[in-house]
Amino acid sequence: MKKTWSSNLLDLFLSITLILTLLSSTLPSVHAQGTSFGFYARTCPNVESIVRTTVQSHFQSDPTVAPALLRMHFHDCFVQGCDASILINGPNTEKSAFPNRLLRGFDVIDDAKKKLEAACAGVVSCADIIALAARDSVALTNGAGWPVPLGRRDGTVSLASDTNNLPAFTDSIQVQVQKFADKGLNTQDLVTLVGGHTIGTAACQFFSYRLYNFSNTTTTGADPTIDPAFVPQLRALCPQNGDGSRRVALDTGSQDTFDDSYYRNLQNGRGVLESDQKLWTDPATRDIARRYSGTIGGLLGLRFDVEFARSMVKMSNVGVKSGSQGQIRAVCTAVN
Ligand code: HEM
Repeated sequence: MKKTWSSNLLDLFLSITLILTLLSSTLPSVHAQGTSFGFYARTCPNVESIVRTTVQSHFQSDPTVAPALLRMHFHDCFVQGCDASILINGPNTEKSAFPNRLLRGFDVIDDAKKKLEAACAGVVSCADIIALAARDSVALTNGAGWPVPLGRRDGTVSLASDTNNLPAFTDSIQVQVQKFADKGLNTQDLVTLVGGHTIGTAACQFFSYRLYNFSNTTTTGADPTIDPAFVPQLRALCPQNGDGSRRVALDTGSQDTFDDSYYRNLQNGRGVLESDQKLWTDPATRDIARRYSGTIGGLLGLRFDVEFARSMVKMSNVGVKSGSQGQIRAVCTAVN
């Protein structure tokens, strides 16, 4: 649809507001934690365009790399901080642990790293590549972009046993809130960042118990918090004792677009993971989820794109290594 001059003006206004909000709200903490804007301005000025074009070219042949890269950044930051420890190959590394088994998109990071080494050897960390690739993935799925402060260094430790920090899909809200608080992220950051499930898919093995194992609670056998009209749809996609690796959209009806419809799905009992639906059923998080669902307007409503960007900048500063800590890896899959 052709845009009118007034809607173009509105878009411009919203973009400027987003950038100003982010800059004003994130700069002080960002500097305190060792990352900064323009970190590679002199040492590798094309870093952002190299990562962006690499992600773009992979996305064109396989759009599922966008959710994969966003999730990878989350799983990196929650274990040893955002230090690319998730990329290390080997037995008993984070990558080999159960919660990371289905992570994908490693080849995109390796590809970007190769190009960056050719352009400016030994300068750009793998951790920064993941942070940029996550931002670019959101932008490629029609989400808002945001300025990513850079300067993370790569870690040298990667242990499968550390992945217990990651939230599990069966965690109560209390446990989810605690796991985020342990990383300096508050309840609003939790509700906002899990909104990353507006893109991508989950394997049946992570939620099909919700469709069949509740016969003690309901006559249908399904989790009573699922919209009864949604149950047959999910059962058709994940038959009982069927293929657990089959993938289903986390945001029904809008899995390829980064938007706030995820929260309306929660409101309608159409959250796919148990942990997702609890964001709505638990009073500790429902009010925040409701403020994204579009049912509350005006000052009480929250803009998902603005808040997601703000929380992502916070998350991507968790446990960042800088200065003489860590290293700049030569290849992302192994320490130097
Ligand atoms: C309570 C917190 C969270 C839990 C329990 C959780 C759990 C999960 C699970 C079980 C899957 C399905 C994985 C698969 O089948 O491959 C998934 C997918 C995904 N998660 Fe989360 N997640 C959480 C928070 C987040 C956050 C904070 C982000 C990003 C900021 C995120 C981004 C994603 C994305 C994009 C996918 C789709 C991946 C794909 O399509 O390959 N998640 N999550």
